[in-house]
Amino acid sequence: MAGKVKWVTDIEKSVLINNFEKRGWVPVAENEDWNFYWMSVQTIRNVFSVETGYRLSDDQIVNHFPNHYELTRKDLMVKNIKRYRKELEKEGSPLAEKDENGKYLYLDFVPVTFMLPADYNLFVEEFRKNPSSTWIMKPCGKAQGKGIFLINKLSQIKKWSRDSKTSTFVSQSTKEAYVISLYISNPLLIGGKKFDLRLYVLVSTYRPLRCYMYKLGFCRFCTVKYTPSTSELDNMFVHLTNVAIQKHGDDYNHIHGGKWTVNNLRLYLESTRGKDVTNKLFDEIHWIIVQSLKAVAPVMNNDKHCFECYGYDIIIDDKLKPWLIEIVNHFPNHYELTRKDLMVKNIKRYRKELEKEGSPLAEKDENGKYLYLGTAAISGKQQEHTAMAVKKPYKPTED
Ligand SMILES: Nc1ncnc2c1ncn2[C@@H]1O[C@H](COP(=O)(O)OP(=O)(O)O)[C@@H](O)[C@H]1O
Ligand SMILES: [Mg+2]
Repeated sequence: MAGKVKWVTDIEKSVLINNFEKRGWVPVAENEDWNFYWMSVQTIRNVFSVETGYRLSDDQIVNHFPNHYELTRKDLMVKNIKRYRKELEKEGSPLAEKDENGKYLYLDFVPVTFMLPADYNLFVEEFRKNPSSTWIMKPCGKAQGKGIFLINKLSQIKKWSRDSKTSTFVSQSTKEAYVISLYISNPLLIGGKKFDLRLYVLVSTYRPLRCYMYKLGFCRFCTVKYTPSTSELDNMFVHLTNVAIQKHGDDYNHIHGGKWTVNNLRLYLESTRGKDVTNKLFDEIHWIIVQSLKAVAPVMNNDKHCFECYGYDIIIDDKLKPWLIEIVNHFPNHYELTRKDLMVKNIKRYRKELEKEGSPLAEKDENGKYLYLGTAAISGKQQEHTAMAVKKPYKPTED
């Protein structure tokens, strides 16, 4: 690309804007000539739709593939991985080898999963083989732990099915599809708590496959100690690692947010389990990521104008086996506010509070400007107020 990159985004967040500005790129409007458009998954639909579709030129790129959902919808991810395994098996690939119980030796990296209601009978058959198992129900199109629940009896599924059919709020046609997955009931615990990994991977092309892993992944911890006990099945603070869930817990710590860097986890595992075991675990995680991408490569519309950044959710069990839980491509927590944004937000809220209380500090001049709480507070002159304003921190949304 000759000259400076001209960029647009429909996601007004500082993490994007600051990064583009840092590179000296030039902001332009959507209807102007642009080279780089960081867009939401809603907008990408229009870009590639038959009616409203754009004709992207050689010097234009966007941050999603047209059929990105093949990997990021919970049901489609599993469907594609199942298909990939079958294909390898048909080809007689050594990767598709099975043990004496018919389980894949290497390709068994997603928990056993069925679509509901479509695969209900298959699920029942599997459930009956091991009636003491716990399963997790997840709506295909939701995120942040929304709509998820655990079950350990068939009657609970029947009740769910009855309730959602008779519900006057949910019509049959809009009834959501769910996946039901075998619950990994033996997660690796640290300090008695369950956690999962969030790793970021960027794919620049599917054919040939080229992917990059971001060094700074993190672990997200639950706030309540883990127990597989059925009496705690409804307690999401025990079972779901989403920050969007955990931040409502009494024991949530706003300073560290229940997070560890992946490097911290490495250090912990190296010292408690040894270096070799830890290296093997991380090699396996990388291998799983590559396999999941290979699984969708043949169905992905490998448009040369596209790249995509994915967030991988991985759970490690107590035998140090990693499990792929889901892959996402829109990140509320990516778009977290910068420290300066937070400061300004906190100060604005603090001013409003003082104003409501009728505090003399919130007095304004004839132009409606604060006499004492102007921008000086933000630039740090009125340290005390700044400190008070951030006492109740603004909480950004997260996955
Ligand atoms: N099969 C599973 N076994 C154990 N825990 C799971 C399983 N599936 C999901 N979870 C837990 O639930 C959380 C949310 O599930 P996920 O599939 O990531 O949905 P969401 O899109 O709502 O984040 C995960 O981060 C993980 O902590
Ligand atoms: Mg998730």
